[in-house]
Amino acid sequence: MKSSDLRKKFLNFFEERDHKIVPSSSLVPKDDPSVLLTTAGMQQFKSYYLGTANPETDFGSKNTATVQKSFRTSDIEGVGDDTHLTFFEMLGNFSFGGYWKKEAIKYAIEFLESELKIDHNRIHSTYFAGAEGIPADSVSLAELKNYFDDSKIVPQGRGDNFWGPTGDQGPCGPTVEFYVDGTEIWNVVFNEFYCKLDKTLVPIEGTGGVRGIDTGMGLERLSVVMQAKKNVFETDLFASLTKDFPPIEDRVARIILDHFRAAVFLISDGVAPSNKDRGYILRRLLRRAFMYAKINNFPAEGPKNFIIDLINLYKEQYPELESNQQRILDVIYDERKKFGASIDLGLKQFEKSYQADAQFVTGKAVFDLVTTFGFPKELVEEIAKQKNVQVDWPEFEQEFQKHQELSRSASAGMFKGGLADNSEKVVRLHTATHLMNAALRKVLGTNVWQKGSNITEERTRFDFAHGEKLKDEQKAEVEKLVNEWIARDLIVKRDTMPLAGARELDAIGVFGEKYPDTVSIYTIYDPKSDEIISREFCGGPHVEHTGVIGKFKIQKEEAVSAGVRRIKATIE
Ligand code: SER
Repeated sequence: MKSSDLRKKFLNFFEERDHKIVPSSSLVPKDDPSVLLTTAGMQQFKSYYLGTANPETDFGSKNTATVQKSFRTSDIEGVGDDTHLTFFEMLGNFSFGGYWKKEAIKYAIEFLESELKIDHNRIHSTYFAGAEGIPADSVSLAELKNYFDDSKIVPQGRGDNFWGPTGDQGPCGPTVEFYVDGTEIWNVVFNEFYCKLDKTLVPIEGTGGVRGIDTGMGLERLSVVMQAKKNVFETDLFASLTKDFPPIEDRVARIILDHFRAAVFLISDGVAPSNKDRGYILRRLLRRAFMYAKINNFPAEGPKNFIIDLINLYKEQYPELESNQQRILDVIYDERKKFGASIDLGLKQFEKSYQADAQFVTGKAVFDLVTTFGFPKELVEEIAKQKNVQVDWPEFEQEFQKHQELSRSASAGMFKGGLADNSEKVVRLHTATHLMNAALRKVLGTNVWQKGSNITEERTRFDFAHGEKLKDEQKAEVEKLVNEWIARDLIVKRDTMPLAGARELDAIGVFGEKYPDTVSIYTIYDPKSDEIISREFCGGPHVEHTGVIGKFKIQKEEAVSAGVRRIKATIE
């Protein structure tokens, strides 16, 4: 049975049993800061379990069913074996104060045995047998006995048969799980507790919530069962995608398939590569995939057809893939361009480093690779394994530590130049200067480059490359932008990283300045939208958030030399 039919069958089955079909929510959770990405079908329904929203008002039913796009970062390292995936689709039926354990167990068994015709003898179940002061789920046990011999009902503890909460608090409860041929395929959760921040459990009904059903069945695993395959990558969810792959190890093909598939879905839900949070997850997936493709001789023109095949395979169920096709390709190609040159140079460098001794690479050589080309360490490990060379990892660690100490003092010393002192007023003016730099680049264009600066308690003096005198409206616009950013109370954050990494982030610096291998970067960003306003090479110090800066005003704008302008500005 095709996986597209499985999705339809599942939804029809529950629609016929008074469930409202709800579309998958985005992989980027709305209004739920406790999780970075959607990991389960129940997430979009949290408020119905909590009793803060009414399912009958919103869906006309207490029960819903979905095919949910899901993502689990904890599985990135595991990808390559028969079952692990980062992105997957989850079939789920839910009830918020409607039916309870008896019906949920009945529906699951009926769907597997009557609808999908999976032989009863291939199925077994597990239930929560009580642990850590939480009583056994005797109701589910009694119910399961109506269907299975005792040998097919396995008691389990909290680690296996108790689910949730997602994030640090929320609905949770015991589970019943169904297995086919020993593989877990369906998790039926009974949300009867609320797990508080301090990790104590209370009955959910006492918190204003309702008892609820939350089930999840991985479409990929179900497809393995229904298509009689050995692993998820042989099912129709992946098999057609490898037609243009060069001959490669299974594990590598799986990593490439999984990571690009996940990336395509993340991008279509609005995630862009960055060095933070979900943007970082996307960047990591893409870079791992590019690197594996590169070292395994994928065609140099890259994965274009493959990405389009991926979109075509999934677009019927997820139309957002097709409507975002251009953006998906652009984001992937842009990231590849950024990282591609580093891969080529880095690989050459790596090969040189072991040519003298065919089997051994020094820690110092690897350290240079990591810091200069921004190669993740795990990929160096991978390449070394593939080329059958040994790396002196202890020496690498030593180099790393030595370097960190050196560059801490180097970068602290080198950036101090422009500040008269570290008084509170100078620090506020310093952050205002970064905002002004960003505003100038926005108003006048990115040809504006800082040439120098000097900050005292009285004013900031900022020199920058620009050919003409500023018009009054341009000055007013710069002032307005800076004051708006101050009012938005943006976060100011410091990171230290390899120079290559900072360059990739498009951090801006002082024109012509030479930077050490490890640099300090200040980013000013909006915590609500993740919008980055400014990112500069800088040793600090800065305020922690812009709201404390005060009102910004340009006092004077003049020429210092041909092509260089100077602004003096104050804060009140
Ligand atoms: N929330 C449970 C899970 O993710 C059931 O949907 O497994």
